Amino acid sequence: MSTEQQIVALAGRLREACRITVLTGAGVSAASGVPTFRGAGGLWKNYSAQDLATPQAFRRNPALVWEWYNWRRELVAKCAPNAAHHVLAAWSRRFPGFQLITQNVDGLHERAGTEGVLRFHGSIWEVQCWERCPSSPERWRDETVPLVPLPPRCPYCGGLLRPGVVWFGEAIDPEILDRSFAAARCDLFLSVGTSTVVHPAAGLAHEAKRHGAFTAEINPEETPASELVDISIRMAAEQALPEIEQLLVTSDRSAGA
Ligand code: OAD
Repeated sequence: MSTEQQIVALAGRLREACRITVLTGAGVSAASGVPTFRGAGGLWKNYSAQDLATPQAFRRNPALVWEWYNWRRELVAKCAPNAAHHVLAAWSRRFPGFQLITQNVDGLHERAGTEGVLRFHGSIWEVQCWERCPSSPERWRDETVPLVPLPPRCPYCGGLLRPGVVWFGEAIDPEILDRSFAAARCDLFLSVGTSTVVHPAAGLAHEAKRHGAFTAEINPEETPASELVDISIRMAAEQALPEIEQLLVTSDRSAGA
């Protein structure tokens, strides 16, 4: 099947599906200027996850970890959602059985107006008390850029504040995990812009397949999911999704005419 035929086939499946679940990763925000983690120019090429994205790293050097998160917050604050975010936001409003799960912490899906986003790895715009002090909420929003002093302090107890993200070695919020795996049991599961190597998120496509969903992937590179899915579209998200949307909108118009 040519890429064009794959696009048409996926649009057809989207039109028919009742429950549509989309899992996104860093590739969806690449066109907005947010660096991905792996691949050429990926963050893990120049930075060590062990030094910056684990509870041990934070315990060792909270100022260094916060310096990195402040840099990312500043970078993302200057970025805007791209065409891929906008198409997914439109689908979240149009399809009643639509669920977006994202591994991204940048908040660009929400800024595009996507409804009901499940944030699998949390948000860089949220913070938590490192000590989980009893007077503080579990997590709260703070969009200050940069957060000072370094490291910033919990306004409730004066202890350390931490980013509201999931680090390597930490558990996914059990409610988000349950809701995401329930959403994977759908009619159509689409994976967009993720290397599909970080678990448990990488297991969602398997769950969908096991449940009998039609599965698809949009990624310019091959991933471990490529062999599993029914359709693997080798394109950038910001190109493929608007093409699919164009087909959906055109067929809606002709059906209504
Ligand atoms: P990765 O950086 O691992 O993968 C990004 C994927 O996006 C790659 O497969 C690229 O080929 C693809 N890509 C690049 N540009 C694209 C574009 N324009 N359109 C579509 N795809 C494109 O990012 P994730 O899979 O999101 O976790 O990484 C998963 C997790 O690993 C992250 O949430 C983060 C990271 O370490 C934590 O921090 C816990």
